Amino acid sequence: MHAFSALVCFVWGQLMVTAVNSCCIDIPSFSGPNDAFVIGGPGKVDYVDGALVMTLLPPNDGGDTGLSVIGTSSISLLYGTVEAVIQQSTSAGVVTYLTLINQTTKDEIDFEWIGNERQTVWTNFFYRGLRERDPVTLNEIWSSQVSTGSDDNSEIAHTYKIQWTPDFISWSVDGTIVHWQDKNDSPMTVNVGIWNDQDVVWANGPIDWKDPTTANGFSAKVLSLKVWCGVDLE
Ligand SMILES: *[C@@H]1O[C@H](CO)[C@@H](O)[C@H](O)[C@H]1NC(C)=O
Repeated sequence: MHAFSALVCFVWGQLMVTAVNSCCIDIPSFSGPNDAFVIGGPGKVDYVDGALVMTLLPPNDGGDTGLSVIGTSSISLLYGTVEAVIQQSTSAGVVTYLTLINQTTKDEIDFEWIGNERQTVWTNFFYRGLRERDPVTLNEIWSSQVSTGSDDNSEIAHTYKIQWTPDFISWSVDGTIVHWQDKNDSPMTVNVGIWNDQDVVWANGPIDWKDPTTANGFSAKVLSLKVWCGVDLE
């Protein structure tokens, strides 16, 4: 249940105040392209039994970085709640993500799943591009890997939620808060995707794309996505 004091959305850069309890984006199941959430390759995008299936494909340019998929909301929001039911990808080096991001201010709030770590999820927070400057304080950057309480997040679809208010940010898995953090304050878009960065040790890569078992790439599933704009009073 969500009770909002006011619902504020930025639609194409313009501040909109919408009715109480209205919702910016609600995709209970995916049946194809939609205006609220724009999904694209160069990786493979499929809609299967109501799920968005994002497949990281082998590189086709002679390089070693796989072809990613990203879905981005057509609106930005300043505070709100994002909830998605996700089955992460498998395999070391493959990263599935659900992210709130502002590419200009470099603020970011996210969940990230690493392909060969399927009983945990990363909860990350970056304030003003902290990956690119020093010094870093705990109020500006945070990464923690938390248990999802399941044997395999690629088989079990959990509900992952980010609640972002002027006072705090919380990350929860199936209704249990797994991390809590100070605020971010730039409007952000909502993104889901799958990628691999061959240079990131953290993700356990690199992927050996010459291995025949990688030829069909790696997939993650998004079963639903809901975005409520504004401040949840609960
Ligand atoms: C990013 O934040 C800046 C500063 O608050 C804002 O002007 C801009 O519209 C935001 N970008 C998006 C995509 O929301």
